[in-house]
Amino acid sequence: GTGPLVDAFNRRITYLRLSVTDRCDLRCTYCMPERMQFLPRKEVLTLEELHKLSLGMMARGISKIRLTGGEPLVRRDMMDLVRALGRRIGDGLEELTLTTNGTQLADYADDLAAAGVRRVNVSLDTLDPQLFADLTRRNRLNEVLQGITAAREAGLKVKINTVALKGLNQDHLPEMIAWAHSEGHDLTLIEVMPLGEVEGDRVDHYLPLTAVRDVLDQRFTLQPSTDSSGGPARYFDIEETGGRLGLISPLTNNFCAGCNRIRVTATGQLYACLGGAEKVDLREALRSDDPDLRLGQALDEAMRIKPEKHHFQIDKRGAVPAQPRHMSLTGG
Ligand code: GTP
Ligand code: 5AD
Ligand code: SF4
Repeated sequence: GTGPLVDAFNRRITYLRLSVTDRCDLRCTYCMPERMQFLPRKEVLTLEELHKLSLGMMARGISKIRLTGGEPLVRRDMMDLVRALGRRIGDGLEELTLTTNGTQLADYADDLAAAGVRRVNVSLDTLDPQLFADLTRRNRLNEVLQGITAAREAGLKVKINTVALKGLNQDHLPEMIAWAHSEGHDLTLIEVMPLGEVEGDRVDHYLPLTAVRDVLDQRFTLQPSTDSSGGPARYFDIEETGGRLGLISPLTNNFCAGCNRIRVTATGQLYACLGGAEKVDLREALRSDDPDLRLGQALDEAMRIKPEKHHFQIDKRGAVPAQPRHMSLTGG
């Protein structure tokens, strides 16, 4: 095919989440085990392949590209891709952005802004150094905070992503929101999703955002906002802080009916749904004799197999994850 990407449920797909590496310099306990097995580097797409794939998707109506990981900034030649794609902004591409853990953001903020990136999402679950070290298994909170400041100084809009974790950062969430808003950043809360095995049982720290909402309502006035970032979050304006709060609640408030996205791993596997096993191999298509034709066919196939919704469940102990692959493979 050559036309726009529309799936079997009549959803128009315009948002590509492209993982440039499965590696990460943190080890968040809800995301991966300490001894995470990473992909052999030779399996990973080259920069040229990532670029070609992105252009092929833009030709099919993808207008927003989010680079993800693992941690995208640990890939050495990552900025070359950002610059190459940045040249397409306004020419098919409406937004080029990334999701980062922030540890190296101070080094890259100026270059990202210069390449045309307007905003970045930075994962940060706590402002407490000890809890940060426990959650990420690395002692790097200061680098992340410096990265966030550098991003703002470079003119990037920052959205903080905070996974809500029962008994861990639960009691700090109102302070996190107040802090982010006072610094001029939006903040989005996320429900933990059961993807890939980790050391603990995620159910122990699963915190439904319906419960968080009750607590927030006691302290803040939340006004539903009609704004959208084109992602899964529902947004609210908080009167007391003047800032914006997003809620991503795959478990308690399914948003799949509005799904507009696909995700591709660093090895070129397109997963049609974050919560599903349905995939097509873009690497094989890219390395074939007629990459344009084969990429087009692969994208058509992706539209046929994209499921209606995920089937995440996280309410009983000892349950196997919905999918064996970790979030770091598809970048969420
Ligand atoms: P913007 O809306 O553009 O700011 O970004 P985003 O929220 O789409 O992206 P981000 O990478 O910041 O992801 C935030 C959280 O949303 C992560 O935990 C992702 O795994 C999750 N997420 C993103 N897309 C999907 C999706 O299609 N389904 C589900 N269940 N979760 C998603
Ligand atoms: N459930 C929910 N969010 C997760 N993230 C990583 N693993 C999970 C999970 N199992 C978050 C990160 C980051 C975003 C890309 O996904 O904290 O903010
Ligand atoms: Fe789309 Fe699947 Fe995410 Fe639901 S879980 S929003 S169907 S990708």
